[in-house]
Amino acid sequence: MKSLHQLSQKQTKKVIGLMSGTSVDGVDAALVEIRGHGLETQVELLAFHSHPFEAEVRNRIFDLFQPETSRVDELCQMNFLIGEIFANAALSVIRGAQLEVREIDLIGSHGQTVYHLPPQIDAQYIPSTLQLGEPAVIAYRTGIPTIANFRVADLAAGGQGAPLVPYIDFLLFRGTDRTIALQNIGGISNVTLIPAGAAGSDVLASDTGPGNMIIDSVMEMLTDGAEKYDNAGQLAAQGSVCESLLGEWLQHPFIGARPPKTTGREAFGRQFAHQALQRAQSQSLAPADLVATLTAFTARTIFDYYSRFLFPHYSVDEIYISGGGSHNLTLMRHLKTLFQPISLQPIDSISISSEAKEAIAFAVLANEAIYGHPANLPQVTGASQPMVLGTFSPA
Ligand SMILES: Nc1ncnc2c1ncn2[C@@H]1O[C@H](COP(=O)(O)OP(=O)(O)O)[C@@H](O)[C@H]1O
Ligand SMILES: [Mg+2]
Repeated sequence: MKSLHQLSQKQTKKVIGLMSGTSVDGVDAALVEIRGHGLETQVELLAFHSHPFEAEVRNRIFDLFQPETSRVDELCQMNFLIGEIFANAALSVIRGAQLEVREIDLIGSHGQTVYHLPPQIDAQYIPSTLQLGEPAVIAYRTGIPTIANFRVADLAAGGQGAPLVPYIDFLLFRGTDRTIALQNIGGISNVTLIPAGAAGSDVLASDTGPGNMIIDSVMEMLTDGAEKYDNAGQLAAQGSVCESLLGEWLQHPFIGARPPKTTGREAFGRQFAHQALQRAQSQSLAPADLVATLTAFTARTIFDYYSRFLFPHYSVDEIYISGGGSHNLTLMRHLKTLFQPISLQPIDSISISSEAKEAIAFAVLANEAIYGHPANLPQVTGASQPMVLGTFSPA
């Protein structure tokens, strides 16, 4: 068995990052080779595998999101079941890379968020967050030491527990002469801004609003569950944008709220999608027009964030898109039009896989934990101090 101390002695490690986001589309597993740590970190992606959730499991996860109906015995079981699924995703990516389990040093697992209650003024709850996917199950099933629960330490210190990827963005993408924005479009969209010549304390990050989440929900509703998303943005491309509905949605309080801010299913989940569908039906909009309008809305919320909160202070040279939203060509077309003349392209163009980026980040966060490096950015999360993130489950 490898101890933390033994792991820290290895200059080069093979690490797996496991991630499932708010889309609940599946577990992303990135197998990387990490050299060094902290500012010297270098990462190479060896293999990537995305392990889709079975429909039954996906529905059970969605049921957990509903506080009115979710049950504690189900929560207890799902923690272990999701742990098994994450372990299988790790084993699959190892096989895909044609490596042996004993060659892998470490797993960093984000888990599946089922509930997230960030600190808020006048909140009627205890700030807290819950990611399922029991790391002891992952460590036992794979035989690989596992670091998980990255968000809780930041919340314990008064932070939002999110976003955590900006620290990794800073390690991997900081440059000297360009100001770059890394825009991830998953279920929710979030941005990391790395000003030219930035130190870690200069990095900005925030959720910008919805990503694919509303489009996905509406596609499921329109097709009785047959379609999980608007493939390549094809349906949106056939419709036209309803400006009045777009204007209504742009009044959403999240959009004007000052950053840093986080959002999720609570604001842009099935309830939002359901209301959008009803509004569209009352105006006799065709399905393609509704999806076109939602796609335009998603693009506008991203652009509005930059217009309100970034452009007044920074001249952004380049924008790189990651996450599943980069495959939605209609969304990408809207973004290019809105942001021109700024260069906007998928992050693959600078040799990082856009679908693997978040999973890679959790592999690097695990590596940072081994060395006791704080990995939250307090100015980003609102925590009272830098915190070392993660809990350790030995193999
Ligand atoms: N070919 C595609 N066309 C359009 N959208 C896609 C495509 N592939 C993936 N997506 C979108 O990306 C989402 C998954 O993105 P991901 O980055 O994994 O999000 P999350 O981090 O929330 O899990 C899917 O739910 C879907 O909306
Ligand atoms: Mg995903």
